Amino acid sequence: MPICAPSSDSSASSASGGRAWIVHGLALGAAAAAAAAAAYLYRRPSGFRSRAVGIIPARFASSRFEGKPLAHILGKPMIQRTWERVMLASSLDHVVVATDDERIADCCRGFGADVIMTSESCRNGSERCCEALQKLGKRYDIVVNIQGDEPLIEPEIIDGVVMALQRAPDAVFSTAVTSLKPEDASDTNRVKCVVDNQGYAIYFSRGLIPSNKSGKVNPNYPYLLHLGISGFDSKFLMIYPELSPTPLQLEEDLEQLKVLENGYRMKVIKVDHDAHGVDAPEDVEKIEELMRARNIQ
Ligand SMILES: *[C@@H]1O[C@H](CO)[C@@H](O)[C@H](O)[C@H]1NC(C)=O
Ligand SMILES: *[C@@H]1O[C@H](CO)[C@@H](O)[C@H](O)[C@H]1NC(C)=O
Repeated sequence: MPICAPSSDSSASSASGGRAWIVHGLALGAAAAAAAAAAYLYRRPSGFRSRAVGIIPARFASSRFEGKPLAHILGKPMIQRTWERVMLASSLDHVVVATDDERIADCCRGFGADVIMTSESCRNGSERCCEALQKLGKRYDIVVNIQGDEPLIEPEIIDGVVMALQRAPDAVFSTAVTSLKPEDASDTNRVKCVVDNQGYAIYFSRGLIPSNKSGKVNPNYPYLLHLGISGFDSKFLMIYPELSPTPLQLEEDLEQLKVLENGYRMKVIKVDHDAHGVDAPEDVEKIEELMRARNIQ
């Protein structure tokens, strides 16, 4: 399976027309094989930002789906499915679940995960990651925040987000996008992204960007859909919750805009990924159907 890693220096990406930041060929359902391929391509660097930790923030309360992390998907709790995928990422030195809930903590310890208890006052995933990072005994250079509601996240996406920060010293944050399906173009829950020709984020919006002069969706334009995974430089993560909310962040209700509005650089990788997040109880059945169809145990 061809996985073309982002180019190792940014001048090379511009020389090849800005396409080098794209990670190709991620296939759902072949996680183990793909992880082996990624392990081959992924050379753990000895230098810049070499130590990475994956943190899966998980809370019990949720307005749309109470107890979501513990919901069973084909017989296993969703949080376990996510954790198993994250454990396949070859770029991570350590993986922890960060939660404020004893039920989630017990469940996670039961299947062998490391758990960090965080306070109930964390307002969102990045605050929970920040607190977990402070409570971790060891020092890490990179923190990857993996949302527990994407049980089919490919480990190569995690490796891609880590590599992006290792190869772009000027970026403090990295994330991933995939192709937006035309039928999702006007869905404000699908966040769109535009990038410059070296793969640095320019803007994110709930509206369709770029916007065609005709006012319609251009069927020929490769619109980008933002995926819920973030890589942080750990020093940046420590100050991030303290940065004041910014106007565009508040208007779009998109946390990542705070990074850009404060003038920080954000590296984006493009991956092939069918987004199938679990937001509501109905989504469980959909994802189980998909897993059966693709023969995922
Ligand atoms: C807008 O979209 C149409 C197709 O719907 C395309 O032909 C055109 O090139 C796009 N751009 C502009 C500036 O019209
Ligand atoms: C998450 O917390 C940050 C502070 O860390 C805040 O700026 C942001 O608005 C919060 N986002 C949401 C969706 O609550």
